[in-house]
Amino acid sequence: MSALAQSPAGSAVPIEPSLIETMPADAALEALLAAIRRNRFLPAPQPGSVFVGDGDYRLIGAEFLGHLVRLGGLRPEARVLDIGCGIGRIAVPLTQYLGDEGSYLGLDPVREGIDWCRAEIAPVYPAFRFRHLDIAHEIYNPQGLLTGETLVLPVGDRSVDFAFMVSVATHLRPAEIARYAREAARVLAPGGTLFVTHFEMDEAARRSSVRDPRRGFVRTSEGPDWHADPSAPLGAVAFDAGWLRACLRWAGLDCVTESPGHWRGGEAAHYQDILVARKPDTR
Ligand SMILES: C[S@@+](CC[C@H](N)C(=O)[O-])C[C@H]1O[C@@H](n2cnc3c(N)ncnc32)[C@H](O)[C@@H]1O
Repeated sequence: MSALAQSPAGSAVPIEPSLIETMPADAALEALLAAIRRNRFLPAPQPGSVFVGDGDYRLIGAEFLGHLVRLGGLRPEARVLDIGCGIGRIAVPLTQYLGDEGSYLGLDPVREGIDWCRAEIAPVYPAFRFRHLDIAHEIYNPQGLLTGETLVLPVGDRSVDFAFMVSVATHLRPAEIARYAREAARVLAPGGTLFVTHFEMDEAARRSSVRDPRRGFVRTSEGPDWHADPSAPLGAVAFDAGWLRACLRWAGLDCVTESPGHWRGGEAAHYQDILVARKPDTR
């Protein structure tokens, strides 16, 4: 609990540590998220340089910290790997949650995002590291020299407690996701967690008449992937029902939580679907 109460120099988190210590866990988390949402001392990039999607950078980051903790079981002492960290939208709120024993590594193919994180986050939080990987992506890094389909993550075997991909699998081809699933299984410690957001074309999504019109996915190949815009297929990718779960299972990870998002209509606390998988304790 002490990590929730940490108030690093200059970040002006207006929470009384003594109050936090006596709050039930979820109330303490909610208090932390509220403090992050209103904390204007936390760094945020210029709006014009945020390339990771619409919406409020600060609010979405805080929202996802809540999902990582509530749905994924993220703990303050975790060694965290953020695959596709963008421009630090989730790293920034994580600086307020991870404790002294925790650590964070963010990887991304967009050089500008990594440069911003290195300049604004890493000097103040040395346990937060960021690394550029020159992976080719037709939208995010068209000139990239590496292919994600054969990528070896620059991370040791069994050295990560919690890995996540937020709004990343929604921009990748199936073979690349399969590669990341295998790599996640390699780098996770036994009992470690992988948290992934995605769009799942289940029956509800196929039938829904209130689905977000920007997510009118169509099938464009024989594969399990569906695309919202066939002229820019990696702009938004969905997968056949059960495909991602089966892919993670093939890689050696067991799905422990599935939480459908509200992109297909209906009520949910998050937009994309969320899948949480765990590496068995025995591997
Ligand atoms: C919609 S953004 C989400 C960024 C971040 N996760 C967030 O929620 O703020 C998608 C990110 O995936 C990254 N990306 C694209 N291809 C990737 C790949 N092969 N491996 C890892 N990240 C990739 C992009 O550079 C971009 O930062």
